Amino acid sequence: MQVVLLGAPGAGKGTQAEALSAHLNVPHIATGDLFRAARQSGTEIGNIAAGYMDRGELVPDEVVVRMLLERISLPDAQNGYLLDGFPRTLDQAKSLGDALGKNDSTLDAVLYLNVSNEELVSRLSGRWICRKCQAPYHAISAPPQKDGTCDRCDGELYQREDDQEATVRTRLGVFEKDTAPLIEYYRSQGILSEIPGEGNVKEIENKMISTLS
Ligand code: AP5
Ligand code: MG
Repeated sequence: MQVVLLGAPGAGKGTQAEALSAHLNVPHIATGDLFRAARQSGTEIGNIAAGYMDRGELVPDEVVVRMLLERISLPDAQNGYLLDGFPRTLDQAKSLGDALGKNDSTLDAVLYLNVSNEELVSRLSGRWICRKCQAPYHAISAPPQKDGTCDRCDGELYQREDDQEATVRTRLGVFEKDTAPLIEYYRSQGILSEIPGEGNVKEIENKMISTLS
């Protein structure tokens, strides 16, 4: 099954992806996580992406598409995947559709997590991320058991550079301009489901799972 998680910065894509990918038994593939890992390892893609990410802008389509197509060609993705943070432009969506079409395949579902801008800003200002496994936490709504340490892997928690308020505003503007058109694009293909993304994390997860089944 090939599923896309669509939503603004802070909508809860990363939070929901772990349980959802386990439920679907497919890998969770997040382009933002891949870029952050590439930056940590100092690879060429990481170096290209760094400036765009720190400014809250999108990395150029050709760079993202190349990285994503490589990732979904790996053995663990041959029975499907859950995409988080990709596609983010119409051109990225078309490249993904073309790649799937070459294998006589299509996307099965796009889940759009809808969250108000006010809630997004408050979520991102309190977010902490694990440096090792990238699991997201929140200072108030989802604190770790031990301050500064990931519950899952003991990794160190840090605040993302692009979660500073001015950069968050830029990212929200980029979402409205470049990514929101994908909502209509996929709705017109009949594969989009809109999920209210505010409230209890587990209830949102249940809604997503029942939508898919
Ligand atoms: P990326 O890493 O994809 O960031 P994003 O889309 O901005 O989304 P976030 O990771 O910030 O939010 P999320 O929806 O995962 O929310 P989370 O679950 O953490 O991209 C970063 C950058 O990489 C981009 O700006 C760009 O430069 C580049 N990039 C990546 N992909 C690209 C692409 N395809 N094309 C071009 N460039 C690309 O939750 C947020 C917080 O809210 C957490 O603290 C969490 O605990 C809390 N929370 C979650 N759910 C709830 C809830 N129900 N109630 C209360 N709090 C909640
Ligand atoms: Mg994320």
